Amino acid sequence: MKQKILTGDRPTGKLHLGHYIGSLQNRVQLQHAYDQYILVADLQALTDHFDHPEKITKHIIEVVKDYLSVGIDPNQTTIFIQSRIPEIAELTIYYLNLVTLNRLSKNPTVKHEMHQKGYREAMPLGFLCYPISQAADITLFQAEWVPVGDDQLPMIEQTNEIVRRFNRIYGTKVLKECKAVLSKTSRLVGIDGKSKCSKSLGNAIALSDSPEVIKQKVFQMYTDPNHIKASHPGRVEGNVVFAYLDAFHSDQEAIASLKAHYRRGGLGDVVIKNILNDSLQLFLAPIREKRNCLNDKMVKEILHHGTAKAAQLAKKTMEMVREAMRIKFR
Ligand code: TRP
Repeated sequence: MKQKILTGDRPTGKLHLGHYIGSLQNRVQLQHAYDQYILVADLQALTDHFDHPEKITKHIIEVVKDYLSVGIDPNQTTIFIQSRIPEIAELTIYYLNLVTLNRLSKNPTVKHEMHQKGYREAMPLGFLCYPISQAADITLFQAEWVPVGDDQLPMIEQTNEIVRRFNRIYGTKVLKECKAVLSKTSRLVGIDGKSKCSKSLGNAIALSDSPEVIKQKVFQMYTDPNHIKASHPGRVEGNVVFAYLDAFHSDQEAIASLKAHYRRGGLGDVVIKNILNDSLQLFLAPIREKRNCLNDKMVKEILHHGTAKAAQLAKKTMEMVREAMRIKFR
């Protein structure tokens, strides 16, 4: 039997190159050797968008198109909608007993997002508790591997704490601990050079961006602010164009000599931006073509099948969980 993988994304916007580098490319490779589940995390997205649910529903289909266009194959990967699996909510309720408020508020990812969103005293409980529901996502599908960006490591840790606690308290082994699958570059910097690529900060190149938009974003990229003349030496470190060339150019030897030239001086920003634009256009063209062949009806069909399959596994795990907790009634 293949080991299981579970991962997911909040459907709050288009997926971008940061998602590709941080996680999607891993998923495409792993789907052959593992039994992979990907959930479209609409429940989790609602925790900070509950007042605009239409924003979430609108993006569900688009996110699945992003998956399919990069090569996630619905015959190898089960793609499903989180809110269609009520067992996730049930398991979350049981887990809530196993986590303290104090521990939750120390989760670095939650802390960071709390601050970002400026919640202070008015923190919705649903938001605070989303790591618990994420632990339910992972364990319900008996996942041993979770391909995610490194910002999600605290979630994996929190999940494993819950698993150990549950197994100890109920004297069972039904829940499995999981490990993150991180990619080589797990964080891609945004085009502004200030923070990582983010849907909400608008500093990312989307997988579905048009050739014109890609070019425009490449030419907006932050480089070396002190590199005013092409003949001057430039800095490679912190230079967004080189970060993307490292991640997406197929010839790393060519990039090494380009970097040396840039450091020496005599290489202008326009030249490196053109090289990057060419390689991103080459990389994204087949993804865009694949996306153009998809329609909403096909995507809904895939979600329908995926959700039905996920529901079977969810039921099976829940039976075992209830039995372990001795709350199984007939
Ligand atoms: N928290 C993840 C994100 O913000 C999405 C997510 C929800 C997830 N449930 C998950 C990731 C389970 C991995 C496993 O991108």
